[in-house]
Amino acid sequence: MNILIIGATSGIGKALFEHYAKDGNRIGIVGRRTHLLDELCRQYPSNTFAATADITKQDEIEQAIHLLYRELGNIDLAIICSGTGDLNPSLDYTIERLTIETNVMGWTFVIDTLYNLFEQQNHGHLVAITSAGGLRGEPTAPAYSATKAYQINYMEALRKKAFKVGNKIVVTDIRPGLVDTAMAKGDNLFWVMPVDKVAHQISTAIRRKKSKLYVTKRWHVLAVINKFLPFSLYKRM
Ligand SMILES: NC(=O)c1ccc[n+]([C@@H]2O[C@H](COP(=O)([O-])OP(=O)(O)OC[C@H]3O[C@@H](n4cnc5c(N)ncnc54)[C@H](OP(=O)(O)O)[C@@H]3O)[C@@H](O)[C@H]2O)c1
Repeated sequence: MNILIIGATSGIGKALFEHYAKDGNRIGIVGRRTHLLDELCRQYPSNTFAATADITKQDEIEQAIHLLYRELGNIDLAIICSGTGDLNPSLDYTIERLTIETNVMGWTFVIDTLYNLFEQQNHGHLVAITSAGGLRGEPTAPAYSATKAYQINYMEALRKKAFKVGNKIVVTDIRPGLVDTAMAKGDNLFWVMPVDKVAHQISTAIRRKKSKLYVTKRWHVLAVINKFLPFSLYKRM
């Protein structure tokens, strides 16, 4: 399989890279940290292709996607892991703006570019790592939860769009709870999941062409409760 992973330099994206690379898949990887991309290329030199790009820079990411598309020949599976977010109790606009530029503007450009590319190819599987945190507004990180809600809705829109043209394109929305990566910030974190376990569950959902997946099961239960909890109770938590 030919795979593109955007945001492969650390965390969930890196774990997915390792999962797929060891099975001999040909993988294009993208991130801003060139030295980390180089390390991954050294690990699997015969089946890894890398391009450095920042998803908030349209020219840069467009070039990277097209470069890797040419190297791979076609793309069967694209996984978009790139994302950012920070605790922001003081509503510092710099943090909120970077989150919106990355998780909404840059992310949308990447998702749309790949969806259109899959339409041209007549097939493709588009996967995005959104978050269980996108189901409710979170006061410690308002832009993070709001941008993840945007991504969840966007993925649903694309899934419906794909259905209307005969499901040539598969659209999968992965919604993790807390995962043990640099992104999991804050005190008193609970149910923080090991990244390898998360990557394994994500790869199973991808193989089964699932529409969406909460990782793990206990986060699924919490997400459903959270989603339907009346605001009068949610605000006290
Ligand atoms: N960890 C959690 O608890 C958790 C829970 C739910 C959802 N998620 C989501 O999972 C995804 C992966 O995060 P992670 O937990 O694996 O954290 P991570 O280790 O910080 O990974 C983030 C990835 O995004 C890339 N990235 C960030 N900004 C970018 C940009 N402007 N352009 C290109 N790439 C960029 C980073 O690469 P470079 O820095 O090299 O560019 C890195 O590869 C994110 O979308 C996150 O919101 C995480």
